[in-house]
Amino acid sequence: MAVERTLSIIKPDAVAKNVIGKIISRFEDNGLKIAAARMQLLSQNEAEGFYAVHRERPFFNDLVKFMISGPVVIMVLEGEGAILKNRTLMGATDPKKAEKGTIRADFAESIDANAVHGSDAPDTAATEIAYFFPALAVYSR
Ligand code: CMP
Repeated sequence: MAVERTLSIIKPDAVAKNVIGKIISRFEDNGLKIAAARMQLLSQNEAEGFYAVHRERPFFNDLVKFMISGPVVIMVLEGEGAILKNRTLMGATDPKKAEKGTIRADFAESIDANAVHGSDAPDTAATEIAYFFPALAVYSR
């Protein structure tokens, strides 16, 4: 399987719960490396730009408001099959539907406050990594 990179965000709810380390351990314990990381408070523009693909969805405004409500940890994860591996570790978008033992099942409260974001495919991974870490190579290798 190819070594890939994917974008991960630990969202404000998980940062506020003080589980950054526990979430990062899930990645590291499952063979993913932290290739880049930054903690920051997103501006409204940054959050709107990142989630631009959801602009027309009814939850867009609430999503942006939530994502700027506190600091987030933005990371590039790297490893074999990193994109799918990260999504498997995260669990379903709605924590109520997330499999037991996944990050969202263990740390998230609702579909809005769902602890983590992860790129869903190679093209979005490349776009999302370039959005937050323009200096990194954005191709899978
Ligand atoms: P994320 O993976 O960050 O991508 C978009 C986010 O929108 C998603 O996680 C959820 O937190 C949020 N969201 C809120 N309502 C919905 C919904 N009905 N469907 C998908 N995502 C939603």
